[in-house]
This record gives sequence, structure tokens and C-alpha cells, in this order.
Amino acid sequence: MSDAVLPAQASPEADILSALGARSIVLVGMMGVGKSTIGRRMAARLKLPFIDADTEIEAAAGMTIPEIFERHGEPHFRDGEARVIARLLDGGPVVLATGGGAFMREETRNRIAARAISIWLRADPDVIMRRVRRRADRPLLQTSDPEGTVTRLLTEREPIYGKADLTIASRDVPHDRIVDETIETLHAHLCGETASQPPADVASAVR
Ligand code: S3P
Repeated sequence: MSDAVLPAQASPEADILSALGARSIVLVGMMGVGKSTIGRRMAARLKLPFIDADTEIEAAAGMTIPEIFERHGEPHFRDGEARVIARLLDGGPVVLATGGGAFMREETRNRIAARAISIWLRADPDVIMRRVRRRADRPLLQTSDPEGTVTRLLTEREPIYGKADLTIASRDVPHDRIVDETIETLHAHLCGETASQPPADVASAVR
């Protein structure tokens, strides 16, 4: 039998896209877990726009995040962050990477639950520490004991990140492996384990 007579097989990516509808995919989790890197690659795989909420907040404010914290303080940053994320969720479907504190706000969590599938990228504290040390642009970590700050934030935040729809272990393996796992997990969640299998009549026809 030639391939031409078989119906086109849906890919997991196509299944996910159609199951999403207008909903977005939102990556949540601590600084340094790879939300932007993984999010950008997932968006490319799904052929969706990728948006980094921190970049959008900086554009809306006309300032960098350290400048917003310094001039206006964290509560002002958090209000702007919640507004920007609400706007971005209205424009789905997109893949949206959020800053590490965004999911802590209940209003934002509720909006994400209504308009998106949330994925917690979870990493061990030592992986996070190794990664956040490479950059000095995170105001919350400009303390005398960044390691202690990360530990404290993780204790506060992990129970809340755990409310995300899905959890993926971010670790030091090639990024594409994490992306593959995320696509598989999303597919199982949205479409069920068997959704990418051909229908039974096609499966028996090609046997
Ligand atoms: C923050 C994380 C940062 C940024 C801001 C505050 C946080 O984003 O939003 O510095 O509270 O964890 P990343 O998680 O992308 O580093």
C-alpha cells in the first residue's frame, strides 16, 4: 500500500495545538530552572509565539528589572508583572515563560488556570545555584547570602509551584531532552496516552 492512500498521521505537536485551542502554555518555577530556554524551544516545536514575561515587563516599563526594583520597589514590580501576564494570557495561544515570583500571586494563578496549561520546571537547589551565579541581574539575589536566599525562596515557593498542572524535572541534560519530555507529558495530559496512535482501522490496514 502506498503512503498516499493513508490519512496523514497527526503528530503529538499537532494534537497538542488542536487540544490547546486559545489556551497558552505557561512555564513557572524558580530563577535559573531554564523557563526561557525550554520555552523558546517548545514554542519552535509547536510553532507558537514565544514570550518572556520579564522582557515584556521591561518593555512596558521602559526600564530593566533591577531598575524597576531599585526605583519603585518589589510590590510595584509585582503589580506590573500581574498586569502584563494577564494581558499576554488574553492573546493566546503562546508559550509564556514567567518570572520566578509570578505564580506566587493567587490572582495570576487563577488567570493561568483559566487560560493556560501550567508547567512547573523543577530543579534541585544546587543546579539552581550554579546557574543563577552566572548572572547578576536578579535583584532578589543581591544579598550577602544568595544561597540562603535561594533555599528560603524554594521553601516558600515549591508548595505553590506544585499547584501547576504538570511538573517536569529540569536538570543538566541536553535541552532538547527536557523539551521532548515536556511535549510527551503535555500530550499525555491534553490528549491521553493513545491520542497519537493511528485509528484502529488504519493500524490494522498497515499491519
Ligand atoms: C524573580 C525572578 C526573575 C524576575 C525577577 C524576580 C523572582 O525572573 O522576574 O528578578 O521573584 O524569582 P526569572 O525567574 O526569569 O529569573
